[in-house]
Amino acid sequence: MFERPDRGAAVVLAALDFGDPGYQESLEELKLLATSAGLQVVGVVEGRRARPDPALYAGSGKADEIGEAARAADASLVIFNHELSPVQERNLERRLQCRVLDRTALILEIFALRARSNEGKLQVELAQLRHYSTRLVRGWTHLERQKGGIGMRGGPGETQLELDRRMILNRIRNIEGRLDKLAKSRAIQRRGRQRGGVLSVSLVGYTNAGKSTLFNTLTHAGAYAADQLFATLDTTSRKLWLPDAGQQVVLSDTVGFITRLPHTLVSAFHATLEEATHADLLLHVVDAASANRQHQIEEVEKVLCEIGAEHVPRIEVMNKLDLTGAEPHVARDEYGKIAAVWLSARTGAGIDLLRSALAEVARDAKGTVKNDAKSVAAEDAGLSQD
Ligand code: GTP
Repeated sequence: MFERPDRGAAVVLAALDFGDPGYQESLEELKLLATSAGLQVVGVVEGRRARPDPALYAGSGKADEIGEAARAADASLVIFNHELSPVQERNLERRLQCRVLDRTALILEIFALRARSNEGKLQVELAQLRHYSTRLVRGWTHLERQKGGIGMRGGPGETQLELDRRMILNRIRNIEGRLDKLAKSRAIQRRGRQRGGVLSVSLVGYTNAGKSTLFNTLTHAGAYAADQLFATLDTTSRKLWLPDAGQQVVLSDTVGFITRLPHTLVSAFHATLEEATHADLLLHVVDAASANRQHQIEEVEKVLCEIGAEHVPRIEVMNKLDLTGAEPHVARDEYGKIAAVWLSARTGAGIDLLRSALAEVARDAKGTVKNDAKSVAAEDAGLSQD
């Protein structure tokens, strides 16, 4: 529905330093984000300010410098490492004479490229529609005022923008309805799994930590993996058989977390993230080779708190061991419970340790899960009597 930046399109990044200590890191991340979206970063313009300019976000001199950099590098797109208001975005597009996106729009773009499940795709589309609809509404008000068109709304006098806005609102309602149905059917599946005593494990982690690689390594590893999708489940959930525990678990991949994940996105992905709050165990995948690993761990913890998953037991998976040169190993907490596993999802080193860790949790949980299953069954029986 929306015009997407072309793959490989040249882009100039603009970042303003307001004295925030995370400035440099977030700029590095923006470069990575742009590359992940298939864009080619041909220039970076930085500036310092006390606070954003209400009209252009940057000062007018800086804005011209950005425009000049874009023209010189033949870039048709500028991405700001900030959240721009619709007005700022429009003013900037006029002044720079090229397309301007903000950080939120870029993250949405990447989510759109990566969304695998039907639900994920709908969630991204919803977030995009909400993001762009605010921009359309303002544009519409602005044009209406120019025409002095009070009382002209509806019927033949309706503007194209208003029609667009209506279409968008209808589409938003339609998607919300579909997502609602999907959430309900997932709740039913969850109860089914609880009844069956199946342990559910969710992978969470900072973007690029290696969740999907680990998911694939775990579920495609020969005899251990039941390579069969639940027909009714999202494609990002798979059964995993743990012979040591004589039990199967359901492993679910979730969307990657990111610094300054805009609030609208957290709410858009709430349904998917919610899966993590209902899990019996979270595997928090960490890029152990990243210089920012501590910060990334904290960011993920923050989002987990935000979605109410802070009490779910978890194991930290320190991934990408092949890059750090460390040996695969397991760390236990003061109660003897497994706290962390060091491994490499890419080479497979240490995967057996993680499987054993899962088997241990599954064995420990067996009693509890069965009891839960009984209470769910009892609850269901109670419900059906009503
Ligand atoms: P998002 O989808 O952004 O949330 O990322 P993710 O956490 O699912 O990460 P993904 O599995 O896509 O991996 C990110 C990058 O890290 C890929 O290029 C992987 O090949 C690489 N990677 C994953 N695991 C390892 C590892 O053990 N060692 C090395 N060297 N690279 C790894």
